[in-house]
Amino acid sequence: MKRLAITIIGALVLSFAPALAQAPAAPTPNSTAARVDPARINQVIRGTFARAPAEWQARVALDDTQRTCTERRNHVSGPEADAIQARERATVVLPPDGRFLGDWRRGFEVANSGRGGQFSDPANTVGGGNCYACHQMDPKELSFGTLGPSLAAYGRERNFDPELIREAYIKIYNSQAVVACSNMPRFGATKFLSVDQIRDVLAYLFDRESPVNK
Ligand code: HEC
Repeated sequence: MKRLAITIIGALVLSFAPALAQAPAAPTPNSTAARVDPARINQVIRGTFARAPAEWQARVALDDTQRTCTERRNHVSGPEADAIQARERATVVLPPDGRFLGDWRRGFEVANSGRGGQFSDPANTVGGGNCYACHQMDPKELSFGTLGPSLAAYGRERNFDPELIREAYIKIYNSQAVVACSNMPRFGATKFLSVDQIRDVLAYLFDRESPVNK
C-alpha cells in the first residue's frame, strides 16, 4: 500500500499545521483539525508535490467522492452518502466468469503485503492489500492493526454464504460503494489490486481451509 506516501502526507500536514491553524474556522466543532480549512490543506499538499512526477501529482488530486468526504469531514448527509455509494458502486466490475473465490494461500500473501506505490519499490513490484495493517484475520497472528473490524473467522461466521461472498467482493473492490466515507482503500476501483488478487484475498477470508476460519 501507500503507507510511505500516507506517512509523508501526514508529516507534511503536521509540519504545516501551525500556519494552517490561522485559516478561517470550519463549521465542525471541538477539534484542532476543525479549525483547519480543507481547501488550504489541499493547496499546501499540492504545493509540496509541485515538482514531483506527474503520477505523484495525480495522487493528490481529489475526485468528487474524496472532495465531498473531505469537505464534510466524513460526516455526509443521507442524500450525499446515497450519491457517493451509487457513484462508487457503478465502478465495481464483478468477475466475468462469476467465480468469486481464488486461492487462499496466494490471498494470504496479498493480505499481508504492504508493498506497492512506495518510493523504494522497484518498478515491477506487485502491490499488496495491506489488509493486516487495519484488520485481524488469522486468529493465531499476533500482529495486526485495529482501524478496521476483526475479520477472524469471517467466512465461518457467515456460513460461507455465497451472497455474503459477493457483498465482500464489492466491499473490497470499492469500499465506498458500501460505506460512503470509508477509511478503507478502493482496491479494485483504483486498480491497486487486480480481480484475481481480490478473488485470492476473498478465498483467504472465505475458504473453509484458510487459517482465518480455523
Ligand atoms: C486503512 C485501513 C484499512 C485497510 C488497509 C483495509 N481495510 Fe477493510 N475496513 C476498514 C474499515 C475502517 C472498515 C469498517 C468501516 C467500513 O466499512 O468502511 C473495514 C471493513 C472491511 C470489511 C467489512 C467488515 C464487516 O463489517 O463485515 C471487509 C470484508 C474488509 N474491510 C476487508 C478488507 C480486506 C480484504 C483488505 C485488504 C485487501 C482491507 N479490508 C484493507 C479499514 C481498512
